Amino acid sequence: MTIAYPSTPPVVAPPSGAARPRLTFLGTGYLGATYAICFAELGYEVLGFDIDEAKIAKLAGGDVPIHEPGLDELLRKNLSAGRLRFTTSYEEVGEFGDIHFICVGTPQRPDGMAADLSHVESAVVNLAPHLSRKALIVGKSTVPVGTAEWIEGLVERHAAADLGVEVAWSPEFLQEGVAVEDVLRPNRVIFGIKSEWAMGMLYAAHKGVFDLALTEDREVPVVVTDFATAELVKVAANAFLATKISFINAMAEVCEAAGADVTQLARSIGYDARIGNKFLRAGVGFGGGCLPKDIRAFQARAQELGVGEALRFLHEVDLINQRRRQKIVQLSAELLGRGYGPAGPDLGGTRITVLGATFKPNSDDVRDSPALSVVRKLARSGAEVTVYDPEGMDSARNDVPDVSYAKTLTDAVTGADLVCVLTEWEEFRNADPASLAPLVAAKKVIDGRNCLDQSVWVAGGWEYRGMGRPVVS
Ligand code: UDX
Repeated sequence: MTIAYPSTPPVVAPPSGAARPRLTFLGTGYLGATYAICFAELGYEVLGFDIDEAKIAKLAGGDVPIHEPGLDELLRKNLSAGRLRFTTSYEEVGEFGDIHFICVGTPQRPDGMAADLSHVESAVVNLAPHLSRKALIVGKSTVPVGTAEWIEGLVERHAAADLGVEVAWSPEFLQEGVAVEDVLRPNRVIFGIKSEWAMGMLYAAHKGVFDLALTEDREVPVVVTDFATAELVKVAANAFLATKISFINAMAEVCEAAGADVTQLARSIGYDARIGNKFLRAGVGFGGGCLPKDIRAFQARAQELGVGEALRFLHEVDLINQRRRQKIVQLSAELLGRGYGPAGPDLGGTRITVLGATFKPNSDDVRDSPALSVVRKLARSGAEVTVYDPEGMDSARNDVPDVSYAKTLTDAVTGADLVCVLTEWEEFRNADPASLAPLVAAKKVIDGRNCLDQSVWVAGGWEYRGMGRPVVS
């Protein structure tokens, strides 16, 4: 059932007796912190919970632990308004909330492709005994289909039976870098529910979102559905996005072999509204905390359900994505005149500068970052690698400690035999090839995101290689 709110949903009173439901967000990582802060901004009374005391202390002190444009300001505003608090106490969460959103991480398991649900389990099992009145537990984390029903079982075992605690599922679709906007102005909201009461509570919890839309003359489509569909929406959406990126990267491979230009190909097919021009940027591929792990967990779950065949293409999507990372190493060897043997190239004695460490711009997140993966490969091949990123230096240093980090773009490129642009930060897109030229040892550049103006760099005397683009001199 799809409803475009505002409409007339069932009206239910929050069990706490408050006028609007009080919301808690368990797990104040990227997802939970952004949701907690934005829902306080929408006027709700919010309590954010995490087991990490340092993170909670930071948030309570007005400091967002991640880089997300606009979030700091909203955090401080809502802390001082008194609508937003943070805690490490399950007891306080149980006492305070009408609706508890589960926002903890579901990383890839170290022993396979499946998702690790231990944080979800721990959040529910620890919260449930502290519930003293009816409440709604809403899953937001990305999970394998079937998780909501499993959580119902956990609630049955760990919460007092007479309270009638219910479960619902409402996946999130926020993109790092524009997450505040994605939460305040979502392009759709999904309610996976089993009862009218749960639907009424979820509506009340999102009324702020719908009201904001109303004042801006927009409508927010709401899909009301069952648990399994709601869970699948998220992984299906991410699988589609990953497939779209790998599709254009596969075309890049063909363009490389045929002497064609994938950027013009993407533009040309993107004008067809059925295809669309978004997520068709060929380059070093996708990374981040979601797409790579989600397509793997989706395959693992499909295997368990006996339909592994149906998602076999996602394995190919993953392989295409990995090959793009290796392509940068191949191009580096080619530009530096090094042979490529069975163990990869020998890049010993070369100095390579990598611009970009985060998995995408406007984020400090380096989880499964293609840029850092390439840094590792180049260093393993013997190159002396220097990295510079406007926001991701600390996280990059934690992940890959044994390469050099430069403080500025100009420091980074000074003396380089080759410059690789692997994250399309504005600072790199706007870099002037003429001013960089006197600093480098050799004017060679790999544009791993096809984000530089090829003609300007070539005119400036740089040997330029893009991804899926013909060599122009
Ligand atoms: C993604 C989904 O977009 C979001 O809806 C979901 O909730 C979480 O996962 P995010 O991880 O923030 O969001 O990143 P996204 O903007 O989707 O980019 C993912 C990766 O794909 C990045 O590494 C990006 O550089 C890459 N990408 C994206 C491409 O290589 N080409 C493109 O055309 C688009």
